[in-house]
Amino acid sequence: MPSVYFQTFGCQMNAADSDAVRDLLYRRGFTPSAAHGESDLIVVNTCSVRDSAERRAKSRIAEFARCKRARPGQRLWVIGCMAQRLGDALAAEIPGVDLVVGAKEIERMSEVIDAQFPTGPAESGDRPPPEIFSKTAATDFVPVMRGCDNYCAYCVVPYVRGREQSVPYQDIETAVKKKIEAGIKEITFLGQNVNSYSHNGIDFPELLRKAAQIGGLERIRFTTSHPKDCTERLIDVMASSKKFASHIHLPVQAGSDRVLGLMNRGYTSSRYIGLLDMIRKRIPYADITSDLLVGFPTESDAEFRETLELTRAARFTTAFMFAYSPREGTAAARMTETIDRAEKMARLSELIDLQTGITREIYESAVGTEIEALITERQQKRDKAWMGQDGGCKRVLIDCGGLEAGMIVKARAVSSSGMTLLAEKVDN
Ligand code: SAH
Ligand code: SF4
Ligand code: F3S
Repeated sequence: MPSVYFQTFGCQMNAADSDAVRDLLYRRGFTPSAAHGESDLIVVNTCSVRDSAERRAKSRIAEFARCKRARPGQRLWVIGCMAQRLGDALAAEIPGVDLVVGAKEIERMSEVIDAQFPTGPAESGDRPPPEIFSKTAATDFVPVMRGCDNYCAYCVVPYVRGREQSVPYQDIETAVKKKIEAGIKEITFLGQNVNSYSHNGIDFPELLRKAAQIGGLERIRFTTSHPKDCTERLIDVMASSKKFASHIHLPVQAGSDRVLGLMNRGYTSSRYIGLLDMIRKRIPYADITSDLLVGFPTESDAEFRETLELTRAARFTTAFMFAYSPREGTAAARMTETIDRAEKMARLSELIDLQTGITREIYESAVGTEIEALITERQQKRDKAWMGQDGGCKRVLIDCGGLEAGMIVKARAVSSSGMTLLAEKVDN
């Protein structure tokens, strides 16, 4: 039977897309391969968000293309956002790439696979065992909307992912139920701008309200929320059921109103801080996380200090922090870059130092509290230790036997190692 090896770069949407393509291939008779050198097909799912992401993907693809020469008949497919941005130029740049399918065409992947393997699916007798269809993990993703209409000045996503499109509620419910049957306990609803979901009169708060009624679904998360679409109604729904994780990822990007305006983000820093107050009034222990971007063209040192100030005030549990990378075709790429690489890196490391300290304090302050952890995986290095996540977004390590992925256990946090809580199971 033919086998397939996957390598996925980028965000959770890419991870979900890879899972969908993987499923299609398994249904065609492919089996999973743990080593690219032994597989018949390699699929690389790519990201374009920063230049570094593209460089990483390209060097990996080039490596696969080199090894491929020693394995006649092996095929190399490149899919996802960089495939969308560069198209067939990618196959010309890296000889050995057999097929390029952009992120906008991912929904057509079933037809693409049929066209590539015209002899039809493998005989049912050759089908892989059913267990490889279902994940044994505790948690999984369900995309509810794709694309983005926001056109933040720095961002390539609207170009590579296309316009916003929401999935009909019924399809979402069917996907969730299928995962629950396969043993999944927690679902993360995905969208580039998830809280702008809208289909047939159902908006995002309504989607959440309905999803909370699906039997067997124990925990619900969602990402990424845009501050401009974060309403009181959304937070009220989150606060209304214990099924919703007390976590919201709410990228702010910058602290200066002038820079936020240039970025086309649609809010000011005081409006953003007001949102955090509104959330914490309703969900006092909410973990709020964010994305921060330094070195946007014309950002002055004083304006960067406003990002530091906002970060201090916001008290994010964690944040993803990036140095601005110009992306061809975006509005910001037409602005003159005014901050050199060294300065960007200096700003980034100052911001990371500040946020790392805040993360440490927030984890410390959780020591002594009781948490409900969803056990997600065994900790590789230790014999009896298990990794999990609390009801917010904190990583938890529980050192005890008798656990397995998918359990939700009551535990007490006994210490913190900066980015992980060490917890002891509480017997009830
Ligand atoms: N849809 C989400 C995130 C999309 S990309 C949102 O609206 O926030 C994830 C993060 O990558 C962004 O939040 C931003 O912080 C960062 N990013 C996007 N474009 C970038 C660029 N050109 N250079 C550096 N970081 C970028
Ligand atoms: Fe990019 Fe902005 Fe859309 Fe997020 S909201 S994907 S940062 S354009
Ligand atoms: Fe990257 Fe595409 Fe996600 S550009 S961040 S993989 S939507």
